Amino acid sequence: MYRTHTCGELRIGNKGQQVTLAGWVQRTRKLGGMTFIDLRDRYGVTQLVVESSASPELIGAAASLGREYVVQVEGEVVERQSKNAKMPTGDIEIRLSEIKILNKADVPPFTIEDDTDGGEEIRAKYRYLDLRRNPLQEALRLRHRICLEIRNYLDGQDFMEIETPYLIKSTPEGARDFVVPSRTNPGQFYALPQSPQTFKQILMVAGYDRYFQIVRCFRDEDLRADRQPEFTQIDCEMSFVEQEDVLRTFEGMMRTLFKNVLGVDIPNPIPRMSWYDAMDRYGSDKPDIRFGMTIHEVTAEVQGHGFSVFDNEPYVGAIAVKGAASWSRKQIDELTEWVKRPQVGAKGLVYIKLNEDGSVKSSVDKFYSPEQLRKTAEAAGAADGDLTLILCGEKRKTQTRLGVLRMELGNRLGLRNPKEFAPLWVVDFPLFEWNDEENRWNAMHHPFTAPKPEHLGFYYSDDKEDIAKVCANAYDFVLNGTELGGGSIRIHEAKVQQRMFEILGFSEEEAMYRFGFLINAFKFGAPPHGGLAFGLDRVCALFGGKDSIRDYIAFPKNNQGRDIMADAPSAIDDAQLEELRISVMQPERK
Ligand code: AMO
Repeated sequence: MYRTHTCGELRIGNKGQQVTLAGWVQRTRKLGGMTFIDLRDRYGVTQLVVESSASPELIGAAASLGREYVVQVEGEVVERQSKNAKMPTGDIEIRLSEIKILNKADVPPFTIEDDTDGGEEIRAKYRYLDLRRNPLQEALRLRHRICLEIRNYLDGQDFMEIETPYLIKSTPEGARDFVVPSRTNPGQFYALPQSPQTFKQILMVAGYDRYFQIVRCFRDEDLRADRQPEFTQIDCEMSFVEQEDVLRTFEGMMRTLFKNVLGVDIPNPIPRMSWYDAMDRYGSDKPDIRFGMTIHEVTAEVQGHGFSVFDNEPYVGAIAVKGAASWSRKQIDELTEWVKRPQVGAKGLVYIKLNEDGSVKSSVDKFYSPEQLRKTAEAAGAADGDLTLILCGEKRKTQTRLGVLRMELGNRLGLRNPKEFAPLWVVDFPLFEWNDEENRWNAMHHPFTAPKPEHLGFYYSDDKEDIAKVCANAYDFVLNGTELGGGSIRIHEAKVQQRMFEILGFSEEEAMYRFGFLINAFKFGAPPHGGLAFGLDRVCALFGGKDSIRDYIAFPKNNQGRDIMADAPSAIDDAQLEELRISVMQPERK
Protein backbone atom coordinates (compact mmCIF):
# COMPACT_ATOMS: atom_id res chain seq x y z
CA MET A 1 0.00 0.00 0.00
CA TYR A 2 1.53 3.30 -1.06
CA ARG A 3 -0.45 5.41 1.38
CA THR A 4 -2.83 5.16 4.32
CA HIS A 5 -4.23 8.66 3.79
CA THR A 6 -4.22 11.45 1.24
CA CYS A 7 -2.47 14.78 1.81
CA GLY A 8 -5.77 16.53 2.43
CA GLU A 9 -7.22 14.16 4.95
CA LEU A 10 -5.55 14.24 8.34
CA ARG A 11 -6.97 16.29 11.22
CA ILE A 12 -6.34 16.72 14.91
CA GLY A 13 -8.54 13.66 15.52
CA ASN A 14 -5.84 11.54 13.87
CA LYS A 15 -3.27 12.63 16.47
CA GLY A 16 -1.03 9.77 17.54
CA GLN A 17 -1.67 7.65 14.44
CA GLN A 18 1.11 6.12 12.43
CA VAL A 19 0.50 7.06 8.77
CA THR A 20 2.00 6.67 5.30
CA LEU A 21 1.56 9.46 2.74
CA ALA A 22 2.67 9.82 -0.85
CA GLY A 23 2.82 12.92 -3.02
CA TRP A 24 4.91 15.73 -4.48
CA VAL A 25 7.28 17.96 -2.55
CA GLN A 26 5.86 21.45 -2.84
CA ARG A 27 8.51 23.12 -0.75
CA THR A 28 11.10 22.42 1.98
CA ARG A 29 12.48 24.84 4.54
CA LYS A 30 14.93 24.57 7.39
CA LEU A 31 14.27 26.16 10.74
CA GLY A 32 16.84 25.65 13.46
CA GLY A 33 17.77 22.00 13.21
CA MET A 34 14.39 21.00 11.82
CA THR A 35 13.28 20.50 8.23
CA PHE A 36 9.70 21.23 7.20
CA ILE A 37 8.32 19.75 4.00
CA ASP A 38 5.00 20.56 2.35
CA LEU A 39 3.70 17.42 0.68
CA ARG A 40 1.03 17.87 -1.99
CA ASP A 41 -1.41 15.67 -3.83
CA ARG A 42 -4.77 16.26 -5.50
CA TYR A 43 -6.49 16.39 -2.13
CA GLY A 44 -4.38 19.00 -0.35
CA VAL A 45 -1.11 19.75 1.39
CA THR A 46 0.20 18.22 4.60
CA GLN A 47 3.19 19.53 6.54
CA LEU A 48 5.91 17.01 7.34
CA VAL A 49 8.66 17.59 9.87
CA VAL A 50 12.05 16.01 10.36
CA GLU A 51 13.20 16.75 13.91
CA SER A 52 16.77 17.73 14.73
CA SER A 53 16.94 14.57 16.88
CA ALA A 54 16.15 12.33 13.85
CA SER A 55 18.73 9.91 12.46
CA PRO A 56 21.46 11.38 10.22
CA GLU A 57 20.08 9.29 7.31
CA LEU A 58 16.62 10.82 7.68
CA ILE A 59 18.02 14.35 8.00
CA GLY A 60 20.16 13.65 4.91
CA ALA A 61 17.16 12.35 2.96
CA ALA A 62 15.14 15.44 3.87
CA ALA A 63 17.99 17.68 2.77
CA SER A 64 18.23 15.93 -0.59
CA LEU A 65 14.61 16.61 -1.57
CA GLY A 66 14.01 18.92 -4.48
CA ARG A 67 10.81 20.59 -5.64
CA GLU A 68 8.31 18.18 -7.19
CA TYR A 69 10.16 15.04 -6.07
CA VAL A 70 7.69 12.19 -5.63
CA VAL A 71 8.07 10.66 -2.17
CA GLN A 72 6.52 8.19 0.19
CA VAL A 73 6.84 9.05 3.88
CA GLU A 74 5.98 7.43 7.17
CA GLY A 75 5.49 9.03 10.52
CA GLU A 76 3.23 9.96 13.39
CA VAL A 77 0.48 12.56 13.32
CA VAL A 78 1.33 15.22 15.92
CA GLU A 79 -0.29 18.48 16.93
CA ARG A 80 1.42 21.53 15.45
CA GLN A 81 2.97 24.15 17.67
CA SER A 82 2.03 26.99 15.34
CA LYS A 83 -1.23 26.09 13.68
CA ASN A 84 -2.24 27.34 10.24
CA ALA A 85 -5.95 28.15 10.13
CA LYS A 86 -5.83 28.63 6.35
CA MET A 87 -5.03 24.96 5.70
CA PRO A 88 -7.57 22.20 6.39
CA THR A 89 -4.68 20.08 7.65
CA GLY A 90 -3.16 23.08 9.45
CA ASP A 91 -3.61 21.75 13.01
CA ILE A 92 -1.28 18.81 12.52
CA GLU A 93 2.00 17.76 11.00
CA ILE A 94 3.65 14.38 10.44
CA ARG A 95 6.76 13.69 12.48
CA LEU A 96 8.67 11.57 10.00
CA SER A 97 10.42 8.28 10.65
CA GLU A 98 11.09 7.45 7.01
CA ILE A 99 11.40 9.12 3.62
CA LYS A 100 11.50 7.09 0.42
CA ILE A 101 12.15 8.93 -2.82
CA LEU A 102 9.91 7.33 -5.47
CA ASN A 103 11.07 9.63 -8.23
CA LYS A 104 13.26 12.67 -8.64
CA ALA A 105 12.12 15.68 -10.67
CA ASP A 106 13.88 18.28 -12.76
CA VAL A 107 13.59 21.78 -11.38
CA PRO A 108 10.18 22.93 -12.66
CA PRO A 109 10.30 25.95 -15.00
CA PHE A 110 7.80 27.88 -12.87
CA THR A 111 6.53 27.75 -9.31
CA ILE A 112 3.65 25.40 -8.77
CA GLU A 113 1.67 27.56 -6.38
CA ASP A 114 -1.72 29.30 -6.59
CA ASP A 115 0.05 32.46 -7.76
CA THR A 116 2.67 31.25 -10.18
CA ASP A 117 5.52 33.17 -11.76
CA GLY A 118 5.10 31.29 -15.07
CA GLY A 119 3.93 33.08 -18.22
CA GLU A 120 1.12 31.67 -20.34
CA GLU A 121 3.36 30.14 -22.99
CA ILE A 122 5.61 28.26 -20.59
CA ARG A 123 2.65 27.00 -18.59
CA ALA A 124 1.01 25.73 -21.79
CA LYS A 125 4.19 23.87 -22.73
CA TYR A 126 4.33 22.22 -19.31
CA ARG A 127 0.59 21.85 -18.96
CA TYR A 128 0.99 18.81 -16.64
CA LEU A 129 2.81 21.03 -14.15
CA ASP A 130 0.25 23.79 -14.47
CA LEU A 131 -2.49 21.23 -13.90
CA ARG A 132 -0.93 20.45 -10.52
CA ARG A 133 -1.86 23.95 -9.36
CA ASN A 134 -4.92 24.47 -7.24
CA PRO A 135 -6.84 26.91 -9.48
CA LEU A 136 -6.71 24.46 -12.40
CA GLN A 137 -7.58 21.50 -10.23
CA GLU A 138 -10.55 23.43 -8.93
CA ALA A 139 -11.62 24.28 -12.47
CA LEU A 140 -11.53 20.63 -13.54
CA ARG A 141 -13.32 19.57 -10.37
CA LEU A 142 -16.05 22.09 -11.19
CA ARG A 143 -16.32 20.69 -14.70
CA HIS A 144 -16.61 17.15 -13.36
CA ARG A 145 -19.29 18.23 -10.90
CA ILE A 146 -21.28 20.02 -13.61
CA CYS A 147 -21.14 16.94 -15.86
CA LEU A 148 -22.37 14.73 -13.02
CA GLU A 149 -25.28 17.05 -12.27
CA ILE A 150 -26.22 17.20 -15.94
CA ARG A 151 -26.15 13.42 -16.31
CA ASN A 152 -28.22 12.98 -13.15
CA TYR A 153 -30.79 15.53 -14.20
CA LEU A 154 -31.17 14.23 -17.74
CA ASP A 155 -31.24 10.60 -16.61
CA GLY A 156 -34.03 11.58 -14.22
CA GLN A 157 -35.93 13.00 -17.21
CA ASP A 158 -35.59 9.74 -19.21
CA PHE A 159 -32.80 10.98 -21.50
CA MET A 160 -30.37 8.32 -22.75
CA GLU A 161 -26.73 9.12 -23.42
CA ILE A 162 -25.82 7.71 -26.82
CA GLU A 163 -22.48 8.15 -28.57
CA THR A 164 -22.34 9.24 -32.19
CA PRO A 165 -19.34 8.89 -34.53
CA TYR A 166 -16.48 11.35 -34.96
CA LEU A 167 -15.51 10.29 -38.46
CA ILE A 168 -18.51 11.50 -40.41
CA LYS A 169 -19.75 13.47 -43.35
CA SER A 170 -19.76 17.26 -43.18
CA THR A 171 -22.29 18.79 -40.73
CA PRO A 172 -24.33 21.90 -41.34
CA GLU A 173 -23.25 24.30 -38.54
CA GLY A 174 -21.65 26.80 -40.86
CA ALA A 175 -18.01 26.78 -39.71
CA ARG A 176 -15.17 25.14 -41.63
CA ASP A 177 -14.75 21.41 -41.15
CA PHE A 178 -11.67 19.66 -39.91
CA VAL A 179 -11.12 16.83 -42.33
CA VAL A 180 -9.44 13.44 -41.99
CA PRO A 181 -8.12 11.61 -45.05
CA SER A 182 -9.20 8.01 -45.49
CA ARG A 183 -6.40 5.55 -46.28
CA THR A 184 -8.78 2.83 -47.32
CA ASN A 185 -10.70 5.22 -49.59
CA PRO A 186 -7.92 7.23 -51.23
CA GLY A 187 -8.84 10.77 -52.20
CA GLN A 188 -11.80 10.76 -49.81
CA PHE A 189 -12.14 12.50 -46.51
CA TYR A 190 -14.16 12.26 -43.36
CA ALA A 191 -15.22 15.45 -41.66
CA LEU A 192 -15.04 15.73 -37.88
CA PRO A 193 -18.47 16.71 -36.52
CA GLN A 194 -19.13 20.38 -35.90
CA SER A 195 -21.94 18.91 -33.80
CA PRO A 196 -23.84 15.60 -33.81
CA GLN A 197 -26.80 17.45 -35.35
CA THR A 198 -27.70 15.02 -38.13
CA PHE A 199 -27.10 11.92 -36.00
CA LYS A 200 -29.28 13.09 -33.15
CA GLN A 201 -32.11 13.77 -35.57
CA ILE A 202 -31.67 10.28 -37.01
CA LEU A 203 -31.83 8.90 -33.45
CA MET A 204 -35.25 10.53 -33.20
CA VAL A 205 -36.30 8.79 -36.41
CA ALA A 206 -34.97 5.60 -34.79
CA GLY A 207 -37.37 6.16 -31.91
CA TYR A 208 -34.94 7.05 -29.09
CA ASP A 209 -37.20 9.91 -28.04
CA ARG A 210 -34.91 11.63 -25.55
CA TYR A 211 -31.20 11.65 -26.37
CA PHE A 212 -28.28 13.47 -24.86
CA GLN A 213 -24.53 13.31 -25.14
CA ILE A 214 -21.67 15.19 -23.55
CA VAL A 215 -19.71 15.27 -26.74
CA ARG A 216 -16.66 16.76 -28.40
CA CYS A 217 -17.31 19.01 -31.42
CA PHE A 218 -14.78 20.36 -33.90
CA ARG A 219 -14.89 23.66 -35.76
CA ASP A 220 -12.16 25.28 -37.75
CA GLU A 221 -12.96 28.91 -36.95
CA ASP A 222 -11.17 31.99 -35.64
CA LEU A 223 -10.46 31.54 -31.96
CA ARG A 224 -11.17 33.81 -29.03
CA ALA A 225 -11.51 33.52 -25.27
CA ASP A 226 -14.77 31.60 -25.50
CA ARG A 227 -13.96 29.54 -28.60
CA GLN A 228 -11.78 26.47 -29.02
CA PRO A 229 -11.34 24.39 -32.18
CA GLU A 230 -12.43 21.35 -30.20
CA PHE A 231 -14.97 22.00 -27.52
CA THR A 232 -17.66 20.09 -25.71
CA GLN A 233 -21.42 20.29 -26.08
CA ILE A 234 -24.20 19.06 -23.87
CA ASP A 235 -26.14 17.94 -26.91
CA CYS A 236 -29.83 17.05 -26.58
CA GLU A 237 -32.80 16.10 -28.73
CA MET A 238 -36.42 15.22 -27.92
CA SER A 239 -39.34 13.80 -29.89
CA PHE A 240 -43.01 14.82 -29.78
CA VAL A 241 -42.23 18.25 -28.39
CA GLU A 242 -42.93 21.86 -29.11
CA GLN A 243 -40.65 24.78 -28.34
CA GLU A 244 -42.27 25.26 -24.96
CA ASP A 245 -41.46 21.67 -23.88
CA VAL A 246 -37.81 22.08 -24.83
CA LEU A 247 -37.45 25.42 -23.06
CA ARG A 248 -39.11 24.09 -19.92
CA THR A 249 -36.95 20.94 -19.81
CA PHE A 250 -33.70 22.86 -20.15
CA GLU A 251 -34.69 25.69 -17.86
CA GLY A 252 -35.08 22.88 -15.34
CA MET A 253 -31.60 21.62 -16.11
CA MET A 254 -30.01 25.05 -15.74
CA ARG A 255 -31.97 25.78 -12.58
CA THR A 256 -30.80 22.49 -11.05
CA LEU A 257 -27.21 23.18 -12.08
CA PHE A 258 -27.20 26.65 -10.54
CA LYS A 259 -28.82 25.41 -7.35
CA ASN A 260 -26.76 22.25 -6.85
CA VAL A 261 -23.39 23.56 -7.98
CA LEU A 262 -23.45 27.23 -6.94
CA GLY A 263 -26.34 27.37 -4.48
CA VAL A 264 -27.87 30.13 -6.62
CA ASP A 265 -31.57 30.51 -7.44
CA ILE A 266 -32.00 31.86 -10.96
CA PRO A 267 -35.24 33.62 -11.99
CA ASN A 268 -38.27 31.40 -12.48
CA PRO A 269 -39.41 31.55 -15.21
CA ILE A 270 -36.35 32.70 -17.11
CA PRO A 271 -37.27 35.86 -19.04
CA ARG A 272 -37.65 35.69 -22.81
CA MET A 273 -36.89 38.29 -25.44
CA SER A 274 -37.43 38.18 -29.16
CA TRP A 275 -34.37 38.42 -31.39
CA TYR A 276 -35.80 41.67 -32.79
CA ASP A 277 -36.07 43.25 -29.34
CA ALA A 278 -32.60 42.04 -28.44
CA MET A 279 -31.17 43.69 -31.55
CA ASP A 280 -33.21 46.90 -31.24
CA ARG A 281 -32.58 47.43 -27.54
CA TYR A 282 -29.21 45.81 -26.90
CA GLY A 283 -27.60 45.65 -30.34
CA SER A 284 -26.78 42.00 -29.72
CA ASP A 285 -28.42 38.60 -30.03
CA LYS A 286 -26.89 37.75 -26.66
CA PRO A 287 -27.73 40.74 -24.49
CA ASP A 288 -26.28 41.22 -21.05
CA ILE A 289 -29.40 42.29 -19.17
CA ARG A 290 -27.64 42.90 -15.86
CA PHE A 291 -27.58 46.60 -16.71
CA GLY A 292 -29.74 49.04 -18.66
CA MET A 293 -28.21 51.67 -21.00
CA THR A 294 -30.51 50.33 -23.73
CA ILE A 295 -30.45 51.58 -27.30
CA HIS A 296 -33.10 54.02 -28.53
CA GLU A 297 -33.78 55.02 -32.08
CA VAL A 298 -33.63 58.83 -32.46
CA THR A 299 -33.84 59.06 -36.26
CA ALA A 300 -37.05 61.11 -36.17
CA GLU A 301 -35.62 63.51 -33.58
CA VAL A 302 -32.42 64.32 -35.48
CA GLN A 303 -33.30 64.22 -39.17
CA GLY A 304 -34.47 67.22 -41.17
CA HIS A 305 -32.44 69.86 -39.33
CA GLY A 306 -29.68 70.29 -41.90
CA PHE A 307 -27.10 67.97 -40.37
CA SER A 308 -26.30 65.93 -43.46
CA VAL A 309 -24.43 63.14 -41.62
CA PHE A 310 -27.67 62.13 -39.92
CA ASP A 311 -29.96 63.12 -42.78
CA ASN A 312 -28.23 60.76 -45.21
CA GLU A 313 -28.39 57.61 -43.08
CA PRO A 314 -31.34 55.27 -42.64
CA TYR A 315 -30.95 54.91 -38.89
CA VAL A 316 -29.72 56.97 -35.94
CA GLY A 317 -29.49 55.33 -32.51
CA ALA A 318 -28.38 56.45 -29.06
CA ILE A 319 -27.53 55.26 -25.57
CA ALA A 320 -27.58 57.33 -22.39
CA VAL A 321 -24.76 57.00 -19.88
CA LYS A 322 -25.98 57.85 -16.39
CA GLY A 323 -24.06 60.60 -14.60
CA ALA A 324 -21.53 60.99 -17.42
CA ALA A 325 -22.36 64.56 -18.45
CA SER A 326 -19.32 65.55 -16.40
CA TRP A 327 -16.94 63.57 -18.62
CA SER A 328 -14.12 65.66 -20.01
CA ARG A 329 -13.50 66.45 -23.64
CA LYS A 330 -10.48 64.18 -23.46
CA GLN A 331 -12.55 61.25 -22.22
CA ILE A 332 -15.09 61.68 -25.00
CA ASP A 333 -12.33 62.06 -27.63
CA GLU A 334 -10.81 58.80 -26.42
CA LEU A 335 -14.19 57.08 -26.69
CA THR A 336 -14.62 58.49 -30.19
CA GLU A 337 -11.29 56.98 -31.22
CA TRP A 338 -12.38 53.73 -29.56
CA VAL A 339 -15.56 53.42 -31.66
CA LYS A 340 -13.56 54.19 -34.80
CA ARG A 341 -11.31 51.15 -34.29
CA PRO A 342 -11.85 48.58 -37.05
CA GLN A 343 -13.24 46.13 -34.46
CA VAL A 344 -16.14 48.53 -33.84
CA GLY A 345 -16.18 50.27 -37.20
CA ALA A 346 -18.14 53.48 -36.54
CA LYS A 347 -17.23 56.59 -38.53
CA GLY A 348 -17.66 58.94 -35.60
CA LEU A 349 -19.50 59.58 -32.37
CA VAL A 350 -21.87 62.42 -31.59
CA TYR A 351 -22.58 63.37 -27.97
CA ILE A 352 -25.14 65.42 -26.09
CA LYS A 353 -24.54 66.42 -22.47
CA LEU A 354 -27.53 67.35 -20.33
CA ASN A 355 -25.61 69.16 -17.63
CA GLU A 356 -26.69 69.13 -13.99
CA ASP A 357 -27.40 72.90 -14.19
CA GLY A 358 -29.92 72.34 -16.98
CA SER A 359 -27.66 73.56 -19.80
CA VAL A 360 -27.05 71.47 -22.92
CA LYS A 361 -23.73 70.86 -24.65
CA SER A 362 -23.20 68.84 -27.81
CA SER A 363 -20.70 68.16 -30.57
CA VAL A 364 -23.44 69.13 -33.04
CA ASP A 365 -24.88 72.25 -31.36
CA LYS A 366 -24.22 74.21 -34.58
CA PHE A 367 -27.10 72.30 -36.21
CA TYR A 368 -29.61 71.92 -33.39
CA SER A 369 -31.27 74.17 -30.83
CA PRO A 370 -30.80 73.26 -27.17
CA GLU A 371 -34.46 72.19 -27.09
CA GLN A 372 -33.99 69.82 -30.03
CA LEU A 373 -30.88 68.35 -28.40
CA ARG A 374 -32.67 67.92 -25.09
CA LYS A 375 -35.57 66.20 -26.83
CA THR A 376 -33.17 63.82 -28.57
CA ALA A 377 -31.28 63.02 -25.37
CA GLU A 378 -34.52 62.44 -23.50
CA ALA A 379 -35.70 60.10 -26.24
CA ALA A 380 -32.54 58.11 -25.53
CA GLY A 381 -33.49 57.91 -21.86
CA ALA A 382 -31.18 60.66 -20.59
CA ALA A 383 -31.94 63.07 -17.74
CA ASP A 384 -29.94 65.99 -16.33
CA GLY A 385 -26.42 64.80 -15.53
CA ASP A 386 -26.36 62.17 -18.28
CA LEU A 387 -24.33 61.84 -21.45
CA THR A 388 -26.00 60.68 -24.67
CA LEU A 389 -23.89 58.95 -27.31
CA ILE A 390 -25.18 58.73 -30.87
CA LEU A 391 -24.19 56.63 -33.90
CA CYS A 392 -25.78 56.45 -37.34
CA GLY A 393 -25.73 54.18 -40.39
CA GLU A 394 -27.38 51.00 -41.62
CA LYS A 395 -29.82 49.90 -38.89
CA ARG A 396 -28.49 46.52 -37.69
CA LYS A 397 -24.84 47.48 -38.13
CA THR A 398 -25.37 50.67 -36.13
CA GLN A 399 -27.28 48.84 -33.42
CA THR A 400 -24.49 46.27 -33.23
CA ARG A 401 -21.90 49.06 -32.84
CA LEU A 402 -24.00 50.70 -30.14
CA GLY A 403 -24.24 47.28 -28.50
CA VAL A 404 -20.46 46.92 -28.51
CA LEU A 405 -20.08 50.44 -27.09
CA ARG A 406 -22.68 49.65 -24.43
CA MET A 407 -20.77 46.54 -23.32
CA GLU A 408 -17.48 48.46 -23.24
CA LEU A 409 -19.06 51.15 -21.06
CA GLY A 410 -20.66 48.44 -18.93
CA ASN A 411 -17.16 47.04 -18.31
CA ARG A 412 -15.52 50.41 -17.74
CA LEU A 413 -18.22 51.56 -15.33
CA GLY A 414 -18.35 48.26 -13.44
CA LEU A 415 -22.00 47.68 -14.32
CA ARG A 416 -21.52 43.98 -15.06
CA ASN A 417 -21.71 42.56 -11.55
CA PRO A 418 -19.85 39.22 -11.65
CA LYS A 419 -21.90 37.92 -8.71
CA GLU A 420 -25.18 38.33 -10.56
CA PHE A 421 -26.50 35.73 -13.00
CA ALA A 422 -29.05 37.02 -15.48
CA PRO A 423 -30.23 34.22 -17.80
CA LEU A 424 -32.39 34.93 -20.79
CA TRP A 425 -34.01 32.99 -23.62
CA VAL A 426 -33.66 34.80 -26.92
CA VAL A 427 -36.47 33.48 -29.15
CA ASP A 428 -38.09 34.15 -32.53
CA PHE A 429 -34.90 34.32 -34.57
CA PRO A 430 -35.26 35.07 -38.25
CA LEU A 431 -34.99 31.79 -40.14
CA PHE A 432 -32.74 33.29 -42.81
CA GLU A 433 -30.10 35.97 -43.05
CA TRP A 434 -29.09 37.58 -46.29
CA ASN A 435 -25.51 36.98 -47.38
CA ASP A 436 -24.49 40.17 -49.21
CA GLU A 437 -21.19 38.83 -50.48
CA GLU A 438 -22.63 35.69 -52.02
CA ASN A 439 -25.97 37.26 -52.88
CA ARG A 440 -28.02 34.49 -51.32
CA TRP A 441 -29.85 33.41 -48.18
CA ASN A 442 -28.09 31.61 -45.34
CA ALA A 443 -29.85 29.62 -42.64
CA MET A 444 -29.36 31.63 -39.46
CA HIS A 445 -29.28 28.45 -37.33
CA HIS A 446 -29.00 25.44 -39.66
CA PRO A 447 -31.05 24.14 -42.59
CA PHE A 448 -33.11 21.74 -40.46
CA THR A 449 -34.64 24.48 -38.33
CA ALA A 450 -38.42 24.76 -38.71
CA PRO A 451 -40.20 27.99 -39.64
CA LYS A 452 -42.89 29.10 -37.22
CA PRO A 453 -46.14 27.51 -38.39
CA GLU A 454 -47.79 30.94 -38.50
CA HIS A 455 -45.07 32.13 -40.92
CA LEU A 456 -45.53 29.37 -43.51
CA GLY A 457 -47.26 31.90 -45.79
CA PHE A 458 -44.08 34.02 -45.91
CA TYR A 459 -42.00 30.84 -46.21
CA TYR A 460 -43.65 29.80 -49.46
CA SER A 461 -43.74 33.36 -50.87
CA ASP A 462 -41.42 34.36 -53.72
CA ASP A 463 -40.97 37.86 -52.33
CA LYS A 464 -37.57 38.49 -50.75
CA GLU A 465 -39.14 40.75 -48.13
CA ASP A 466 -41.47 37.97 -47.06
CA ILE A 467 -38.59 35.49 -46.76
CA ALA A 468 -36.78 37.97 -44.52
CA LYS A 469 -39.80 38.01 -42.22
CA VAL A 470 -39.96 34.26 -41.60
CA CYS A 471 -39.21 33.54 -37.96
CA ALA A 472 -37.78 30.26 -36.80
CA ASN A 473 -38.79 28.09 -33.91
CA ALA A 474 -35.28 28.66 -32.64
CA TYR A 475 -33.96 29.76 -29.27
CA ASP A 476 -30.70 30.65 -27.56
CA PHE A 477 -29.91 30.43 -23.87
CA VAL A 478 -27.96 33.55 -22.96
CA LEU A 479 -26.27 34.34 -19.66
CA ASN A 480 -24.59 37.64 -18.79
CA GLY A 481 -23.89 38.44 -22.44
CA THR A 482 -22.64 34.98 -23.42
CA GLU A 483 -24.48 32.53 -25.65
CA LEU A 484 -24.42 29.34 -23.61
CA GLY A 485 -26.68 27.27 -25.79
CA GLY A 486 -28.99 27.18 -28.73
CA GLY A 487 -31.36 24.98 -30.60
CA SER A 488 -34.57 24.70 -32.52
CA ILE A 489 -37.62 22.71 -33.44
CA ARG A 490 -36.69 20.80 -36.57
CA ILE A 491 -38.37 20.34 -39.89
CA HIS A 492 -39.81 16.82 -40.06
CA GLU A 493 -41.79 17.06 -43.31
CA ALA A 494 -40.17 16.44 -46.69
CA LYS A 495 -42.06 19.27 -48.37
CA VAL A 496 -40.94 21.89 -45.85
CA GLN A 497 -37.38 20.61 -46.03
CA GLN A 498 -37.37 20.80 -49.83
CA ARG A 499 -38.52 24.40 -49.70
CA MET A 500 -35.70 25.15 -47.26
CA PHE A 501 -33.10 23.80 -49.66
CA GLU A 502 -34.72 25.73 -52.47
CA ILE A 503 -34.48 29.04 -50.58
CA LEU A 504 -30.88 28.30 -49.62
CA GLY A 505 -30.13 27.65 -53.28
CA PHE A 506 -29.18 23.98 -52.95
CA SER A 507 -30.06 21.92 -55.99
CA GLU A 508 -31.77 18.64 -55.25
CA GLU A 509 -28.58 16.75 -56.15
CA GLU A 510 -26.53 18.95 -53.89
CA ALA A 511 -28.94 18.49 -50.99
CA MET A 512 -28.94 14.73 -51.56
CA TYR A 513 -25.15 14.66 -51.78
CA ARG A 514 -24.71 16.53 -48.52
CA PHE A 515 -27.62 15.34 -46.43
CA GLY A 516 -29.12 12.44 -48.40
CA PHE A 517 -28.84 10.04 -45.47
CA LEU A 518 -30.94 12.36 -43.30
CA ILE A 519 -33.45 13.16 -46.04
CA ASN A 520 -33.85 9.43 -46.69
CA ALA A 521 -34.25 8.67 -43.00
CA PHE A 522 -37.02 11.25 -42.85
CA LYS A 523 -38.99 9.20 -45.37
CA PHE A 524 -39.41 6.41 -42.83
CA GLY A 525 -41.55 8.00 -40.16
CA ALA A 526 -39.81 11.05 -38.66
CA PRO A 527 -41.55 12.20 -35.48
CA PRO A 528 -41.88 15.92 -34.74
CA HIS A 529 -38.73 16.74 -32.81
CA GLY A 530 -36.47 19.46 -31.53
CA GLY A 531 -33.53 20.03 -29.25
CA LEU A 532 -30.62 22.17 -28.34
CA ALA A 533 -26.98 22.12 -27.32
CA PHE A 534 -25.16 23.96 -24.56
CA GLY A 535 -21.47 24.74 -24.69
CA LEU A 536 -20.11 22.87 -21.67
CA ASP A 537 -16.82 24.78 -21.61
CA ARG A 538 -18.71 28.08 -21.51
CA VAL A 539 -21.04 26.86 -18.78
CA CYS A 540 -17.98 25.90 -16.71
CA ALA A 541 -16.21 29.23 -17.27
CA LEU A 542 -19.32 31.18 -16.32
CA PHE A 543 -19.87 29.10 -13.21
CA GLY A 544 -16.22 29.55 -12.32
CA GLY A 545 -16.39 33.30 -12.91
CA LYS A 546 -13.77 33.41 -15.70
CA ASP A 547 -13.83 34.81 -19.23
CA SER A 548 -11.63 32.19 -20.86
CA ILE A 549 -12.81 28.62 -21.36
CA ARG A 550 -9.22 27.41 -21.60
CA ASP A 551 -8.79 26.91 -17.87
CA TYR A 552 -11.70 24.50 -17.88
CA ILE A 553 -10.20 22.25 -20.54
CA ALA A 554 -7.41 19.93 -19.41
CA PHE A 555 -5.46 20.22 -22.66
CA PRO A 556 -6.59 23.29 -24.62
CA LYS A 557 -5.24 24.80 -27.81
CA ASN A 558 -3.70 28.26 -28.02
CA ASN A 559 -5.05 31.13 -30.14
CA GLN A 560 -3.43 29.72 -33.26
CA GLY A 561 -5.11 26.39 -32.63
CA ARG A 562 -1.84 24.78 -31.54
CA ASP A 563 -1.29 22.28 -28.78
CA ILE A 564 1.94 23.74 -27.42
CA MET A 565 2.63 20.80 -25.15
CA ALA A 566 2.39 18.08 -27.77
CA ASP A 567 3.50 20.43 -30.57
CA ALA A 568 0.52 19.73 -32.81
CA PRO A 569 -0.34 20.14 -35.60
CA SER A 570 2.87 18.88 -37.18
CA ALA A 571 4.07 17.54 -40.50
CA ILE A 572 3.65 13.84 -41.23
CA ASP A 573 6.27 11.75 -42.93
CA ASP A 574 6.38 11.00 -46.64
CA ALA A 575 5.43 7.36 -46.24
CA GLN A 576 2.25 8.34 -44.45
CA LEU A 577 1.42 10.91 -47.13
CA GLU A 578 2.06 8.34 -49.82
CA GLU A 579 -0.25 5.86 -48.15
CA LEU A 580 -2.96 8.51 -48.06
CA ARG A 581 -2.18 9.49 -51.66
CA ILE A 582 -1.74 13.10 -50.62
CA SER A 583 0.88 15.52 -51.80
CA VAL A 584 1.46 18.73 -49.87
CA MET A 585 1.78 21.94 -51.90
CA GLN A 586 3.01 24.74 -49.66
CA PRO A 587 4.28 25.93 -47.27
CA GLU A 588 7.60 24.14 -46.94
CA ARG A 589 7.33 21.38 -44.38
CA LYS A 590 9.05 22.03 -41.09
P1 AMO B 1 -24.51 25.99 -31.87
O1 AMO B 1 -23.67 26.08 -33.08
O2 AMO B 1 -25.26 27.20 -31.44
O3 AMO B 1 -25.64 24.87 -32.05
O4 AMO B 1 -23.63 25.48 -30.67
C1 AMO B 1 -24.17 25.26 -29.39
C2 AMO B 1 -23.30 25.86 -28.31
O5 AMO B 1 -21.97 25.37 -28.38
C3 AMO B 1 -21.06 26.36 -27.90
N1 AMO B 1 -20.01 26.60 -28.92
C4 AMO B 1 -18.70 26.67 -28.65
N2 AMO B 1 -18.01 26.61 -27.50
C5 AMO B 1 -16.67 26.72 -27.55
N3 AMO B 1 -15.96 26.86 -28.68
C6 AMO B 1 -16.60 26.92 -29.88
N4 AMO B 1 -15.87 27.03 -31.01
C7 AMO B 1 -18.03 26.84 -29.90
N5 AMO B 1 -18.98 26.87 -30.87
C8 AMO B 1 -20.16 26.71 -30.27
C9 AMO B 1 -21.86 27.62 -27.65
C10 AMO B 1 -23.14 27.37 -28.43
O6 AMO B 1 -24.23 28.02 -27.86
N6 AMO B 1 -26.41 21.59 -33.42
C11 AMO B 1 -26.73 22.89 -32.87
C12 AMO B 1 -27.60 22.77 -31.64
C13 AMO B 1 -29.01 22.34 -31.94
O7 AMO B 1 -29.63 22.92 -32.83
O8 AMO B 1 -29.49 21.44 -31.23
C14 AMO B 1 -25.44 23.61 -32.51
O9 AMO B 1 -24.36 23.07 -32.56
O10 AMO B 1 -22.13 27.69 -26.25
